Amino acid sequence: MEQGRASETAQRVAAQRLTFARLPGRGDPEADDALHRDVAAGIAWEPTPMTRYLAARTAFFDRTVVDWKGTQVVALGAGYDGRSLRYSGARWWELDHPATQTDKLARMARLGILSDTVFVGADFLVDDLELPGHDAALPTLFLCEGLLAYLPDPARLLMWAASVAAPGSVLAAEVPVTAQVSSETREALRDSVSRVGEPMAEPWDRPTLAARFSSYRWSVVSAVDARGGPIDESPLTAAFVVAEVLA
Ligand SMILES: C[S@@+](CC[C@H](N)C(=O)[O-])C[C@H]1O[C@@H](n2cnc3c(N)ncnc32)[C@H](O)[C@@H]1O
Repeated sequence: MEQGRASETAQRVAAQRLTFARLPGRGDPEADDALHRDVAAGIAWEPTPMTRYLAARTAFFDRTVVDWKGTQVVALGAGYDGRSLRYSGARWWELDHPATQTDKLARMARLGILSDTVFVGADFLVDDLELPGHDAALPTLFLCEGLLAYLPDPARLLMWAASVAAPGSVLAAEVPVTAQVSSETREALRDSVSRVGEPMAEPWDRPTLAARFSSYRWSVVSAVDARGGPIDESPLTAAFVVAEVLA
């Protein structure tokens, strides 16, 4: 990511998410929508072939949050995600690049959106990471939506998350995986995000996905594609992974 520039990919996702049906939950969906409307109004965007995929991704992460029985949730690379407002049953932390997070907080302040979330600005590739007030003895749900596609080396972040995760903690992650068939949509996305200074990282190798997570101290429970089928056989190039922390 370019220093000092709020993430445009995060803004594009937010603009599209505004058009999706969302799971009901305890919280303030109107505050989340107001933030999303503000982001959408500030950029030129239109639905793309990726929009349907993003709707499925949103549904996966919504469901994971709504079903979480624990009291702590950490959104890694949160962007303009407003689930901490929409689904407010747990204590929330949001970590993101300082430029993106500063822009988000300025928008929330201007819109009068109040939040109990703990916001931590950090570059996952170089900065020391911390979760002020987090209880490392309690299970935590870690969300990693739309982030791993942009992280050249996820080891540092995912191993840190495991190091502060009590037994019973869960990681829900979207993981870019190697293509089995060529995809024009994927190539168009790769070009377009590169032009806004957010080049995509190398996709993960499918057959070694679970082993790679294990090496970061996470045990894969399920890995499906956006249609809910097993990722091993899927023509799609992203996996929705649920993993439990390894002791
Ligand atoms: C495609 S956006 C997804 C945002 C959000 N999770 C969502 O789905 O709406 C990628 C996010 O990752 C963040 N990000 C990318 N590289 C990062 C890094 N090295 N450190 C911290 N955050 C990073 C960006 O700031 C951006 O918010």
